[in-house]
Amino acid sequence: MKNILPFILAVALCSCAGGGETKSAAESAESGNAVIETIMARRSVRRYKPQRVERDVIARIAECGINAPNGQGRESWEVRVVDTPELIAEIDSAYGSYALRSGNAKAPRQALFGAPVAVFIAYDTRYDLSQVDCGLMGENMILAAQSMGLGSCCLGGLCRFINSEEGAPILARLGLPETHKLLYAIVFGYPDESPAAKERHMDKVKFVE
Ligand SMILES: Cc1cc2nc3c(=O)[nH]c(=O)nc-3n(C[C@H](O)[C@H](O)[C@H](O)COP(=O)(O)O)c2cc1C
Repeated sequence: MKNILPFILAVALCSCAGGGETKSAAESAESGNAVIETIMARRSVRRYKPQRVERDVIARIAECGINAPNGQGRESWEVRVVDTPELIAEIDSAYGSYALRSGNAKAPRQALFGAPVAVFIAYDTRYDLSQVDCGLMGENMILAAQSMGLGSCCLGGLCRFINSEEGAPILARLGLPETHKLLYAIVFGYPDESPAAKERHMDKVKFVE
């Protein structure tokens, strides 16, 4: 009896503290947290269902985008939404022939991965932090889309092409002001794949004391 007394005491103490399942501060703040679940579930989607996305859904996603923090409240971005099959086909075809000519075997056959919507984001060349504004705006859109069951993928390579001499006709179609330069695009649509999460490296994050 004497030998098992410390054991009984330890079990009693543990059950007082919730059966030993003490939660960290982060775990307590996170449980049932839809924002964190949305962030952690998001992946870049490169295959979409042909189903179109209603304009009011896209408009709401864009509204979430422009509610992002932005330097000096300038809203320094310019945003162009492309959702007509005609213009999407035009972009696919222009990018496709460029990729073929440049011998890029890895280039996707469809520039927009078959997504029904592409949002093009341009930054204000007169404002040094405009690219930050554009990045924050895009992530707001991506997370809003994810929370509404839509997938997304950022496209930098496509915009490099559109900014090149060969992409000039497409750039002209976007009707950006001279003050702005196309930075990147994000495609949206109903996902037709569920990619696994890529590894992340927490050692890039350091507490400095
Ligand atoms: C600025 C930027 C440009 C990107 N450009 C491309 C691109 O041109 N083509 C592509 O397939 N993915 C592109 N991506 C998606 C990344 O490859 C992807 O986010 C990264 O591999 C991490 O994977 P995850 O989004 O599934 O977590 C881009 C992402 C960012 C943020």
